[in-house]
Amino acid sequence: MKTIIEPFRIKSVEPLRMTTTSERETFLKEANYNLFSLHSDDVLVDLLTDSGTGAMSTNQWAALQRGDESYAGSPSYYRFEKALKELAPFKHVIPTHQGRAAEKILFSIVGGEGKIIPNNTHFDTTRANIEATKTLALDLVQKEGLDPKVEHPFKGNMDLQRLRKLLESDGDKIPLVMLTITNNSGGGQPVSMANIKATKALCDEFGKPLFLDACRFAENAYFIKTREEGYQDKSPKEIAQEIFSYADGMTMSAKKDSLVNMGGWLALNDDDWAMLARNVLILTEGFPTYGGLSGRDLEAMAVGLEEVVEEDYLNYRITSTAYFGNALDKIGIPIVKPVGGHAVYIDARAMLPHIDVKHYPGQALAIEMYRLGGIRACEIGTVMFGRQPDGSEKPAAMDLVRMAIPRRVYTQSHIDYCIECLEEVFTNKDKLKGVRIIWEPPMLRHFTAHFEPL
Ligand code: F0G
Repeated sequence: MKTIIEPFRIKSVEPLRMTTTSERETFLKEANYNLFSLHSDDVLVDLLTDSGTGAMSTNQWAALQRGDESYAGSPSYYRFEKALKELAPFKHVIPTHQGRAAEKILFSIVGGEGKIIPNNTHFDTTRANIEATKTLALDLVQKEGLDPKVEHPFKGNMDLQRLRKLLESDGDKIPLVMLTITNNSGGGQPVSMANIKATKALCDEFGKPLFLDACRFAENAYFIKTREEGYQDKSPKEIAQEIFSYADGMTMSAKKDSLVNMGGWLALNDDDWAMLARNVLILTEGFPTYGGLSGRDLEAMAVGLEEVVEEDYLNYRITSTAYFGNALDKIGIPIVKPVGGHAVYIDARAMLPHIDVKHYPGQALAIEMYRLGGIRACEIGTVMFGRQPDGSEKPAAMDLVRMAIPRRVYTQSHIDYCIECLEEVFTNKDKLKGVRIIWEPPMLRHFTAHFEPL
């Protein structure tokens, strides 16, 4: 059967406030055409991020009641630690309030001037936290991962040849190697088990630990199950266990594949690093058995870790994201292919060739999606990456619009509505005009810049 049946029913609803196109035109003006400045209750379908926007289950809400808020030694911590170790038996488990806090702690320990940390592709906060310690953050994704049109089952794979070369030439500068699963910045593309294993073998050869940025590990596990030979009969949980068996540590944003609204952790095997990490943790996040979290948050993460590897959930998750992307593809809208796990990315530069890159085709498209249908997406292109440290502006490698799907929140009819809206945008695409920036802050301009339609 073709209809995706969401493997849950709805017990508590959050009403959407319907708005008209003319109301949204006013909201856009008031927000200076920056979608981050909208009030989210003026948004109908919010695809800005899949981070912390998921719906918790009845079991997670029930677990909140069990939260023990003791400062030290809370049973909620031990329940969370046990749930994590069931999948990823790292020796030390250090909770943090979200993923970037784990990154900040890890890199403040292992980073430093003259060092290099390679990854398939560093996520923005990972890169920023590495660079803040004057370490070089290198992206070594295989070349297929850089071309939106190339179909490859594991576009997130590490380029093992380049990694070997780097380890040979600069091994003494590398404290650890990272792999981001799935590769968010490259389109939510998975990494194969063979590639994870081979990366670990290279790390072993050069005596380097392998750390996973594992935000979307369950989605990655499901791609392995459906795309890699030898894994069809394994459960996502078994596959996740195998993935983690090749790693020496992980950073995690629980806001993704732990199905909670806030949370994260750093987990690792090295005793010395763990001691240093806990020292920083106490300064910046809290005592080691709560990190920056409440006991109830730890309870919700523990349950989320069990639910996120359920096969029915993952089948729905990956199938429904593909349903959205494939429908746009059928209409002729250029998307990053194959469709990733958590988001569909439109290639706005290819869709709107008449809009000069310096007039931000991605931003123009995202604005139109909101104006016409109340859909909020995120430009990932020249607005986000174009401003150079010397003040000049350069086109980004791609001008994409990301539509990230919150977990267990929207139904197939919400997605059908988005498809219909995008079809209309596509039909009238030649009439779309670009935008210009009329004000921007000195850094991270995409969050607050003011735009004006041309
Ligand atoms: N690593 C990856 C791969 C991520 O996608 C994110 C967050 C982080 C680390 C940082 O985690 O937000 O909990 O501090 N990604 C969100 C997104 C923000 O929209 O893609 P965090």
